Order: sequence, then C-alpha cells, then structure tokens
Amino acid sequence: MKAVYYSEFGGVDVLEYGERPIPEPGPDEVLVKVAAAGVNPIDRRLRAGELSDFFQREWPIIPGWDVSGRIVGLGSDVSTWEEGQDVVGLAFTWTLHHGSYAEYIVVDASSIAALPDGMDHIAGAALPLVSLTAWQSLHEFSGLKQGQSVLVQAGAGGVGSVAVPMAKHLGAKVYTTTRTENFDYVAARGADHPIDYTKENYIGVISQHEPGGLDVVLESMTGEEVIRDSIRLVKDGGSVPYLNNEPPEMDEIATRKINTTFIHHRPDGAMLGELMNLFAAGRLPLPSISTMPLSDGKAAQLQSESMTTKGKLVLSVQDI
Ligand SMILES: NC(=O)c1ccc[n+]([C@@H]2O[C@H](COP(=O)([O-])OP(=O)(O)OC[C@H]3O[C@@H](n4cnc5c(N)ncnc54)[C@H](OP(=O)(O)O)[C@@H]3O)[C@@H](O)[C@H]2O)c1
Repeated sequence: MKAVYYSEFGGVDVLEYGERPIPEPGPDEVLVKVAAAGVNPIDRRLRAGELSDFFQREWPIIPGWDVSGRIVGLGSDVSTWEEGQDVVGLAFTWTLHHGSYAEYIVVDASSIAALPDGMDHIAGAALPLVSLTAWQSLHEFSGLKQGQSVLVQAGAGGVGSVAVPMAKHLGAKVYTTTRTENFDYVAARGADHPIDYTKENYIGVISQHEPGGLDVVLESMTGEEVIRDSIRLVKDGGSVPYLNNEPPEMDEIATRKINTTFIHHRPDGAMLGELMNLFAAGRLPLPSISTMPLSDGKAAQLQSESMTTKGKLVLSVQDI
C-alpha cells in the first residue's frame, strides 16, 4: 500500500512516501481502507521525537491518528462491526507504527463510529481527535453549562474550530483568541468576543469584561506565564483543562479550589458517535477544511508547523 512514513526522528525531510505492507488486524481491531486522514500537530511533534518517554515505537512509523474510511477486515473477536461499513476513528495507540497517512490502517473496534449519512470522508477525517479533545475538556472535565463563560485559546485552529461551537452549544459565553482576519470565522462559529492576541492583551480585555473571573479556560498554548495566567483568569472553583502542559505549581490552585489537569484525548467510539451526529445534524458546524493528496504529507506537516492553519487540514488518500 502507499503510505507516508519515517525511519528516524527529524524535520519534515525524514518523511518518505512509498510502499508499506498492509497491516493485519489484531483480535479486537478492524482493518480500514482509508479514504482520508486528518493532520494534527501531534503527528509532527512525534516525528520530531517529542514525548519519547511516553510512547513505544516500532520503526518505520506511519504518522496520523484521525481516519475516515471503510471496514474491509475484522479481527477474530470483533462482533459489533461489519465489512463494508463506513466509519471514522481516532486510531490512537501508545505504540507508534501503523498510522492513518496510508491506504490501510488497523483501528481498535472500540475507537470507531459510523460515518453519518450525508457526511463525506474528508469531513469525517477532520473531526475525531479535535472533537474528542474539546468535548472531554469542556463537557466531561469542566462541566461547562448554560450561562457560564469560557476562554477558548486559538479559536481558529483545529481544536478551537470545534471547541468554540461546542461551548456555544453548551450555552456558554465564549471568548477566544485569534488574529483579526479570522474574527468573522470564529464569530460565525459562536464566539461572542474574539480578541486579537497580536494587538491586545487578552488577559486585560477579559479581566475588564469578567471582573469576577471566567468559569473555564481551555488552554492550548504553552509558555510559563501563559499557563499561570489561565489560573488567574478563572473564578474560584473554575476549571482549567491544559492541552499542552501539566498545571503550573501555584498554591492558589488548592486554596481557590481550581479544577485543573492535563487533558490527553481518549479514544471513545461511543462518544465520537454522539459528536458525529451533532455535526451531521448541523447542531455543530463543520470546521473549515483544506485538503492535500496523501503524497503531500510533507507539505501538510510543514503547513501544520506554521501554526496558522485555519480549521483543519486533511489528506485525501483514495476514492473508495
Ligand atoms: N492534549 C491533547 O489531547 C491535545 C489535542 C489536540 C491538540 N493539542 C495541542 O493543542 C494545540 C492546538 O492544536 P490545534 O490542532 O488547534 O493546532 P492548529 O490547528 O495547528 O492551530 C493553529 C491555530 O493556532 C492559532 N494560534 C497560533 N498562535 C496563537 C496564539 N499565540 N494565540 C492564539 N492563537 C494562536 C492560529 O490562529 P491565528 O491564525 O488566528 O493566529 C491558528 O489558527 C497544539 O499544541 C496541539 O498539540 C493537544
């Protein structure tokens, strides 16, 4: 099968495009013929050698966890899915080897959901990782609800593009950071108050509007002061899910009873199915999606590195 893969850590130039063997599904896995693969910052970060203490690696490595395609093989213990079904999935594994930048991938049967009628594979591949991350952060961890307030950092990015409408769907007032050129985009997705972080100090703006503090900060940025500012921005008892860091060491986290953690997305086929249905029903808008062919995996990761991607980037793999 055709695939993008790498055999050593490094910059985008370690990515090769060529032939790899089709993987065999384990007992609890399905074999998926891949139509489209979502691109996420973690793909390039793992390629660069980050997080090596947490992941095992079987070289060479095919990157990518977001997938949309058709089931063409079943593991011996899989009874809940059938060949021929169109599915989406978060093909997360702690051992990196088979990724979705390929014509076939094996995925745990509990990590997939049906591709809803009327949704194409490009949209399907854009959604799993960012949707599960945002929902597990805002709803499951923070309990964001009607009448509350939230800051979603980087509202125009992949996570932000689904987190902003999810926060709106939950009934919250939504602040978000993005450059002015993306204001219309985030406002159309439900942001009440976009702040251009290149022109204004978002801490000052939010403190002025919410002197009592926010209920939730979804923090996807890095930097010692940035992550401390998130704690300062929430009210006592508020929540700060971090997507890139462990919470900072600050005494006020305990004294002000702040609910905080590092969130790492969790594959969950049932939750993914519910979220896909919200997108399919139009209750959550799809992100803006740019596509590139699988053979452009290197260009896709370069684009991701620019940190200017609006919405999602998806590799179109094959017609199925
Ligand atoms: N823990 C987890 O499970 C998890 C899951 C998903 C993502 N993440 C992490 O979360 C981060 C965001 O992921 P993503 O997929 O949303 O990335 P992304 O799509 O590559 O984000 C690109 C966006 O970031 C915005 N941006 C860049 N610098 C910014 C700044 N200083 N302030 C506000 N916005 C800024 C840009 O908006 P403008 O063009 O308007 O500047 C652009 O739209 C990444 O570091 C990723 O690794 C973690």
